[in-house]
Amino acid sequence: MEELRDRVAAVTGAASGIGRALAQALAAEGCHLALSDVDEAGLARTAESVSGSGAKVRTDRVDVRDREAVHAWADAVADEFGRVNLIFNNAGVALSADVRSMSYEDLEWVMDVNFWGVVHGTKAFLPHLERTGEGHVVNVSSIFGVIAVPTQSAYNAAKFAVRGFTEALREELEVAGSGVSATTVHPGGIKTSIVANSRLREVEGRVATREEAMEQFDRLARTTPEEAARTILAGVKRNDRRVLVGVDARVIDGVQRLVPTGYQWLLETLFRRTRPDGPG
Ligand SMILES: NC(=O)c1ccc[n+]([C@@H]2O[C@H](COP(=O)([O-])OP(=O)(O)OC[C@H]3O[C@@H](n4cnc5c(N)ncnc54)[C@H](O)[C@@H]3O)[C@@H](O)[C@H]2O)c1
Repeated sequence: MEELRDRVAAVTGAASGIGRALAQALAAEGCHLALSDVDEAGLARTAESVSGSGAKVRTDRVDVRDREAVHAWADAVADEFGRVNLIFNNAGVALSADVRSMSYEDLEWVMDVNFWGVVHGTKAFLPHLERTGEGHVVNVSSIFGVIAVPTQSAYNAAKFAVRGFTEALREELEVAGSGVSATTVHPGGIKTSIVANSRLREVEGRVATREEAMEQFDRLARTTPEEAARTILAGVKRNDRRVLVGVDARVIDGVQRLVPTGYQWLLETLFRRTRPDGPG
């Protein structure tokens, strides 16, 4: 989809970070917006920030874990706007924990938001996209959907799953020739609130403080949400299957191709020295 003017885009997790920047970039391209999040105050701030763009904007409080709520939202958006062309399944959360001490509840929380949220958004919007004949499903994974990292087993599981799910979907859509496409997005470190909003749990018998985790993440995250949104939209317009966001993501992807299991040894060496707790 090369032209975004007058298209209708739905974005989950639009109250903050990449979701907010996507909403702003889409509005600047002349897209109309259906924005959702669990954070209503943040969502209102995002809507306010695009109010001068001329875009029609609808906001809804939707928890992406809630299958029925996501389907009801998709139907209501299609009803109100008359069509939906793009769904950005972006809402996500982070957890730092080692497998030994991680609770099932924390693991389920990450899978429910980061994997099932993406599945719900994809399945709820797909029939509406197919009706337009030129839709696009954009699912946000992570560079942690390409490499696995100590303390990130739950996040890795969800983001690898998003990648598998979306790549299979893309293949199915290509075979069907429905005019709908799908892109998997793998950001590296993006300067957002993801670590501030994360759950920090025990790693080797110790829980990092919020300050430690945020400081470490701030050191590693190099790309702004605005740069990320630009890269994502450029990839969608090119109809890329995979969008890597940031130099760090491109380098890590290259290392993984070069040494598909050897990268683990590199990470183990790094983690013996420092113990990063943030996602990427
Ligand atoms: N920031 C990074 O470094 C980074 C790197 C790779 C991938 N990502 C991914 O990018 C996406 C956006 O994250 P971000 O960095 O902008 O973080 P963020 O915390 O700034 O934004 C995430 C948004 O998702 C919302 N959200 C959380 N749980 C939700 C739920 N159950 N239902 C609906 N909304 C919910 C939050 O309220 C928040 O507004 C996530 O999928 C994340 O995993 C981020």
